Amino acid sequence: MYIALDVDPLMIIGARASLRGLKRGRAAFFPPTNYSTTMRALFWAVALVFPVLSLAQIWPATVPLAVRNPYFNAHMNLVGSTHNDWPQFWNLSHILAWDLWVMVDMKSMQLFGGSGNATNLTNIEITPTRSILTIQADSVVATVTFLNPIVPGDLVAQSLPFTYMYCDITVTDGQEHSIQLYTDVTGEWLSNDIEQPIKWDISKSSIIYHTVSLQNPKALTEKEGMALDASLYYASRAGNGVAYRASGADGTGGAREQWKSTARLDGDEDKNFRKINAGAGDWPCFAFSRDYGTVSDKTETAVWALGLVRDSTIGFGTTQRLPYYRTQYKDAPDALTHFLANFENAQTAAVSFDTSFTDAAKKISDDYAQLVSISGRQALATIEWTVSQSSDGNISDSMAFMKDVGVSTRVSPVDVMSATFPMLLSINATWAGYLLQPLLYSAKHDGRNLEYAMYDLGDHYPKTSAQLTPSTDISIESSGDMLTMTWAQATVSGDASYIKSYYSVLKKWADYLVSQGSSVSGINANLALKGILGVKCMAAIAKAVGQDSDGSVYSANATALYNSWKENAFKDNHVVSDYSASSSWGLIYALYYDRFLNLKLVEEEVYSAQDTFYASKLANADKFGVAYDASVTMASAPWNMLTAAATTDTGVRDALISQVYARMTTNKTAGVFPSTYDPSTGDTKPDSGAAGCVFSYILFSPSRLFCILAQTYT
Ligand SMILES: *[C@@H]1O[C@H](CO)[C@@H](O)[C@H](O)[C@H]1NC(C)=O
Ligand SMILES: *[C@@H]1O[C@H](CO)[C@@H](O)[C@H](O)[C@H]1NC(C)=O
Ligand SMILES: *[C@@H]1O[C@H](CO)[C@@H](O)[C@H](O)[C@H]1NC(C)=O
Ligand SMILES: *[C@@H]1O[C@H](CO)[C@@H](O)[C@H](O)[C@H]1NC(C)=O
Ligand SMILES: *[C@@H]1O[C@H](CO)[C@@H](O)[C@H](O)[C@H]1NC(C)=O
Ligand SMILES: *[C@@H]1O[C@H](CO)[C@@H](O)[C@H](O)[C@H]1NC(C)=O
Ligand SMILES: *[C@@H]1O[C@H](CO)[C@@H](O)[C@H](O)[C@H]1NC(C)=O
Repeated sequence: MYIALDVDPLMIIGARASLRGLKRGRAAFFPPTNYSTTMRALFWAVALVFPVLSLAQIWPATVPLAVRNPYFNAHMNLVGSTHNDWPQFWNLSHILAWDLWVMVDMKSMQLFGGSGNATNLTNIEITPTRSILTIQADSVVATVTFLNPIVPGDLVAQSLPFTYMYCDITVTDGQEHSIQLYTDVTGEWLSNDIEQPIKWDISKSSIIYHTVSLQNPKALTEKEGMALDASLYYASRAGNGVAYRASGADGTGGAREQWKSTARLDGDEDKNFRKINAGAGDWPCFAFSRDYGTVSDKTETAVWALGLVRDSTIGFGTTQRLPYYRTQYKDAPDALTHFLANFENAQTAAVSFDTSFTDAAKKISDDYAQLVSISGRQALATIEWTVSQSSDGNISDSMAFMKDVGVSTRVSPVDVMSATFPMLLSINATWAGYLLQPLLYSAKHDGRNLEYAMYDLGDHYPKTSAQLTPSTDISIESSGDMLTMTWAQATVSGDASYIKSYYSVLKKWADYLVSQGSSVSGINANLALKGILGVKCMAAIAKAVGQDSDGSVYSANATALYNSWKENAFKDNHVVSDYSASSSWGLIYALYYDRFLNLKLVEEEVYSAQDTFYASKLANADKFGVAYDASVTMASAPWNMLTAAATTDTGVRDALISQVYARMTTNKTAGVFPSTYDPSTGDTKPDSGAAGCVFSYILFSPSRLFCILAQTYT
C-alpha cells in the first residue's frame, strides 16, 4: 500500500545550469547555420576578440571529468595550472594521464592534457551531468564534453563505471583545413605506483577498445585512495577514419610521436608488457585517432568511452558483491559495447535531466542551481550499487555502499549518508533504500545484537568489518539518523519494505534512544535533537505498519524528550549548542528532518527564533559562511545547506546558500569542492584527523517535502 504524498513540486527534480555568468549557451555561442562562409568568419572574428566577457566571474578550481565512483574520479585542476596539464585523481595526488589533441593543417595542439602546443580555454559550462569546455586552437573551436550520466529511472545505467567524452570541431575562418584528432590514456589510472607492471589487450568489432590492468592486481584493496583491482577500458566506435594503436610509448617512435608527425596511427599492437612508466618517455599509452580529412565548417561528433572496471565491488562480510549492471550484462565488455552504442540516447537523456534538475533548483535560486550542478556528480560518486554474487539476475538483493571519500575510508558512514540522503531521495527513493539496506541487514544478522545503530560498516572500504563500540553520543546520533533516514525512505518511496522487514531492529534503536533520555538531552543540542527526531520517526513508522499502540508510546516519549531538550537547549532566544553556556550556538541542521518529514515535533517559536538568530550571525559572517558551531573555525557545506532548507526566512536561506556558492566558485584554493573549509579563507580543513581536501557529499532537496502521513502500509 502506498501512502499519499503531497510532494512539493520542486522536489520532482528537474536542469540546465551553466555556471553563473557563463549563460551564453551553445546556441548563442555558435553562428547560425544559415550564415555564409564570410558571415561565419566575421562572427568568429568578433566572438574571439571578446572571448568570454563573463568568464572572470567563475573559474572553478577543478572541473569534474570522469566522476563515477570513489576510484573512478578524475578532475582537471585549474589553480596554478591550466587545461593544458594532466587530469588528476580527485585529491590532486596523482596524475591520471588522459589527453585530446587536434591537428590543423599538420600543426598539433593539445585540447586538454599535458605536454603539447597550448590552446585557449575560453568557456567552461558545468551542468549536473556534463562539463563542457570550449577551446580555441588557431582557426578552429573545439567543444569537448565530459558526460557522466545521472539516470534516475535506470540503475543499470547509473551503475556503469563508464563516462563519455565527445568532441565537436568548428572551423572559424571559413577556410578549408585538414583536421585530425588524437587521444590516449596511460596505465596511471591503475596505481599510484608507476613502477607497477601492466598488461593490455585490444578488441576490435563494432567498437574498438583497449583494456589495461595491473599484472599483480590485489583484490578488494586500495592504496592511497586508488583501487588495485581495476581494469582501465578506453573505447571508440569503429569506422569513419578511426585508427588506434595499442601501447606505442609516448616518447620517440611512440603513438603520440607517430600521430604528430603523420597525423595517423598504424594499428600496431605492441605486446611487450612493461611498467606503467617503463623508462624515460616510455609510458605505454593506449591511443585512438580520427581523420576528418578536409573540413570547412564542422566535424561529425567524435565519441569515446572511458571506464575503470572492478569485477567485485565490495567485500560484504564473507561475500563479494558484484556491480549492479551485472544483472543485465554478462561482463564489462558487453556493458561497454552497449554504453557506446547508446551514446545519442544518453546525451538526450542527460540534457533533459540537467534541464529538469536545475530548473527545479532555480526556483530556489541560481546559486543553488549551480551548487547542484557541480556537487551532484561528486555526491553520487561516493556510492557504489551492487547485487550479491549468486543473484544472477535476482535484483531483490540490491545494496549500495558509500565511501567516506576524502575524510576517511569508512564504509557507509551514517552521519555522512544523512547529509546526502535528501539528494538521493529526490533522485530515486528506491535507490536511497539500497544505501540503508546493508546497515539494516547487518544490524539484524551480524549476531552482535547491539541496542543502538552502528555508525558505519568499518574503516576500510572496499571491505566491511565490525566496528568498535562507539561513545554514547555517536550511538545517539547514528540511531537517530538511521531511524530518520529509514522513515524518510519509506515516506518518499511509498514502499514499506524496510520498515516492515526491520521493524524489530528499528524498535530496538528507538528504545535505546528513549532509555538514554537524560543523555539525549545532555549532549550537543543539535545531535540530541537528531536522537529525539529518531524517536518521533519511530512513532510514525509504528503507525504506518499498523502498530498503533507502539506509535502512541513513541510519540509520547518523543514529546517528553523534546520538552526536556527545549528546557535545556533553548536559551536567550536561540538554541545553544552547549547547555551550560547560553552564549554557545551552532547550526541546528537537525531541524531539517523535522521540516522535511513534517514531524511537527519542534515548535514554530524555535524556528522563528533561530531565523532571527541566524540573520544576526549572517549579517557579519565571513565570506564563505558561518562556522557550524561557535566553538570551531570550520564551515560545512552540508550543514549550511540543511540549515538553509529548514528555515522559513528566504533571506536567511539565500544568504546561507550564497556563502556555500562563494566557496564553490572560488579558485583561490586548489581541490574539488570540499565539504568543510575555513569560513574566512575558504581553505579546506582536515576533518576527523584526515588531512587534505574533502568532498562535498552533500545536496539537499530543492525544497522541503511535505507529506501527509495518514494511511498505514498494512
Ligand atoms: C582564478 O581565475 C581567474 C579568472 O577568473 C584567473 O585569472 C586566476 O589566475 C585564477 N587563479 C588561480 C590561482 O588559478
Ligand atoms: C607545435 O606546433 C609546431 C608547429 O607550429 C610543431 O612544429 C610542433 O611539433 C608542435 N609541438 C608539439 C609538442 O606538438
Ligand atoms: C590563444 O590566444 C592568443 C591571444 O588571443 C593567440 O595569440 C594565440 O594564437 C591563441 N592560441 C591558439 C592555439 O589559438
Ligand atoms: C527508481 O529506481 C527503481 C529501481 O532501480 C526503478 O524501478 C524505478 O523505476 C525508479 N523510479 C523512477 C521514478 O525513476
Ligand atoms: C590523497 O588521498 C589518499 C587517500 O586518502 C591519501 O593517501 C593521499 O595522501 C592523499 N594525497 C594528498 C596529496 O592529499
Ligand atoms: C532473490 O533473492 C532474495 C534474497 O536473497 C530471495 O529471498 C529470493 O528467493 C530470490 N528470488 C529468486 C527468484 O531467486
Ligand atoms: C514512554 O512513553 C510511555 C507512554 O506514555 C511511558 O509509559 C514511558 O514511561 C515513557 N518512557 C520514558 C523513558 O519516558
